[in-house]
Amino acid sequence: MSELLIIGSERSEAGIPAAMEILRRGGSALEAVERGLILCEDNLADHYVGTGGLPNARGEVELDASIMVGSSRAFGAVGAVKNFPNPISIARAVMEKLPQHALLVGQGAEDFADSLGFKRAELLTPEAKALWLQQLKDVPVESIEGENTKAMTGDLRYRLAAIELVKKFAPHEGPWGTINIIARDRTGEIVCGVSTSGYPYKHPGRVGDSSIPGAGNYADIRYGAAACTGRGELSLRGGTARTVVENMRHGMSAEDACFEALKEARNLPDDFRAELRCLAITADGHHGGAAGMEGSTYTLMTESSTQPEFRPRKALL
Ligand code: GLY
Repeated sequence: MSELLIIGSERSEAGIPAAMEILRRGGSALEAVERGLILCEDNLADHYVGTGGLPNARGEVELDASIMVGSSRAFGAVGAVKNFPNPISIARAVMEKLPQHALLVGQGAEDFADSLGFKRAELLTPEAKALWLQQLKDVPVESIEGENTKAMTGDLRYRLAAIELVKKFAPHEGPWGTINIIARDRTGEIVCGVSTSGYPYKHPGRVGDSSIPGAGNYADIRYGAAACTGRGELSLRGGTARTVVENMRHGMSAEDACFEALKEARNLPDDFRAELRCLAITADGHHGGAAGMEGSTYTLMTESSTQPEFRPRKALL
């Protein structure tokens, strides 16, 4: 019998207590991770996941999510999904009901969700829309060098402004980003889930690391599980979640495995650099995390926890 354990990224505390309750009642890690992330996706105060997530450059909320089971390495994911509030559940359905595939994106993912009766909903809340518009208004159009912006159509000026803003957006302040939850249940099963609305002002159709096995999410019951938040293009290029698990396979602690994987990603050239973070648990239930800057934490609940605890991540700087 394994000890129950859940860790999660910043703001996962919206879902982790309910997830732990599921484990305590004998539920599976899969059920716990899905439930925990649904609660995060439904948290309207969170603008980086689910309903209320900040939209892409066209003003549409597009969501990515994935789930991976450590014993079978079964994986399900969706990318660039619009109008469905709980992409983590669609990702689970891809894994369980469409085992010939692992990842569906865009219209195909939405058709699949419709076929299973998932409810559609408006994801862009008035608060998220106001934030999105405000940040666009803050872009001085004259700042676009070498372009006679006054002569352009408003539409083109708008697009250029949005692109300019994307460049300016990273890195930014505050508790932001994707949400990861990793759980271990009584049977020792390890499941890792990731959900995000991705980068605000991203190009429509952009899919980040949260949907990609080995990049933002990886679980292998023999060695552990890991997940990433932050600049997904870095973890896509670095295969960061898989690198963390490989590092644990070679005997590193969860914290060192994350730290070393982030060091590798940090060396990649990237004009849009923003922070990347990761967290992990080992097969025997040790946990840790790393981040680009001091003061970052991850969230923890064990069997005896009465509420989520916040543990420091090892900082690269
Ligand atoms: N890590 C989330 C993203 O880049 O979309």
